[in-house]
Amino acid sequence: MARAAAHYVCQECGASASKWSGRCDACGAWNAIVEEAGGQAPPRGLKGSKGRVVEFTALHGKAAEVARRATGIAEFDRVVGGGLVPGSAILIGGDPGIGKSTLLLQVAAALAADTQCAYISGEESVDQLRMRAARLGLAHAPVALAAATDVRDIVASLDTPTGPRVVVIDSIQTMFVDNLDSAPGTVTQVRASAEALTRLAKRRGFTVLFVGHVTKEGAIAGPRVLEHMVDTVLYFEGERGHAFRILRAIKNRFGPTDEIGVFEMTGAGLSGVDNPSALFLADRSDDVSGAAVFAGIEGTRPLLVEIQALVVRSAQATPRRAVVGWDSGRLAMVLAVLEARCGVGLAGSEVYLNVAGGLRIAEPAADLAVAAALVSALTGKPAPSDAVVFGEIGLSGEVRAVAQMDLRLREAKKLGFTRAIVPAKGRARLSAPEGLKLREIARLSELVELLGVDT
Ligand code: TYD
Ligand code: MG
Repeated sequence: MARAAAHYVCQECGASASKWSGRCDACGAWNAIVEEAGGQAPPRGLKGSKGRVVEFTALHGKAAEVARRATGIAEFDRVVGGGLVPGSAILIGGDPGIGKSTLLLQVAAALAADTQCAYISGEESVDQLRMRAARLGLAHAPVALAAATDVRDIVASLDTPTGPRVVVIDSIQTMFVDNLDSAPGTVTQVRASAEALTRLAKRRGFTVLFVGHVTKEGAIAGPRVLEHMVDTVLYFEGERGHAFRILRAIKNRFGPTDEIGVFEMTGAGLSGVDNPSALFLADRSDDVSGAAVFAGIEGTRPLLVEIQALVVRSAQATPRRAVVGWDSGRLAMVLAVLEARCGVGLAGSEVYLNVAGGLRIAEPAADLAVAAALVSALTGKPAPSDAVVFGEIGLSGEVRAVAQMDLRLREAKKLGFTRAIVPAKGRARLSAPEGLKLREIARLSELVELLGVDT
């Protein structure tokens, strides 16, 4: 028999190559290519017997209603689209120690009363799992525990008609298929393990939840390879020093992808936060310069967060710019527009921007709030502390309308704000909730004026 050709796989993106190189051609990652034995043979094309004819059908027709199993943990159910879908595979990624195991144990325990649930750990012993359960006050939940890593054993245990309906695999990087020579955690193993378990889940109709650790670069190791194999990809994120955790759907075949669930890590596990705005604004102090409250939307929910900026004079030719929780390219744009259209020069200053509470914002609607924080940081005058700000900034210095303005205003009202600085050109007239005064702004220069900069 011919010796199997050497097979190299990029551990970042899963691309395979026939020879080793320092940099992956597919994704550009350095030092990520590793030799893996027993990988997939290169595809050989169609040979041999003829295939069966596939039957085509019309686009219309009755789709079976998806039966969902709600966990009762409201923040989790919201993100998965109402509940767990039988026969589906869910990947939950996140940094080590962020609380993935805790969350999934809570999910399993919440379901266990009327659904058979199994929790299979390759990372912790049964004793450690029991200790965590005791800490969470879930020691008596009828969840079936096992410490196992061999996929063949796991498949053998789950492949029965009376098996569990929900299975947690913690983590997919510790699982291995014994007829592959690669080590657990390599792309080949992660892919093969997930494939075997997903196929079984589809066949037996149970929901499988995979925990996946994220690498330094932020990808789930064995990463995009898994993302397309599963039905739903969730990320569990948050800053280690903060108690907030955010569960975010990146991909969801059975629900929306822009929903987030907000949790707080407490001494007794994760508890859902149903009023996240109050939580994110809890540590805010009035009358400090360099802060503005942004009225944002995450999924279907409004969310108020504080944006903080710090501007420091610098003697360096290229002063430092650091951003936490927002896009640095977007910050550069706001700075450029402030300079070119409003005469607010920050070129000789270091600029730091932070979204308080460890939240990450992707909306362009935050532009105006960022600008308000920057201008206030520069002048040292506090922005009005009873006002929320939102609006997108265009390159010519115009302030553009954003989506769901009414919803943002209602949330601001609910949290006791009395003013809102908003874009002037809404497609429809904005109707402010009673008690909330609108300050409509058409150009960024009006904001600068409002905050009292002498240019
Ligand atoms: P864990 O779920 O083990 O994280 P992961 O599976 O993502 O690696 O959670 C780890 C952290 O959570 C750990 O540092 C301790 C903390 N924690 C609490 O603060 N409260 C709790 O009730 C539990 C169980 C954990
Ligand atoms: Mg864990």
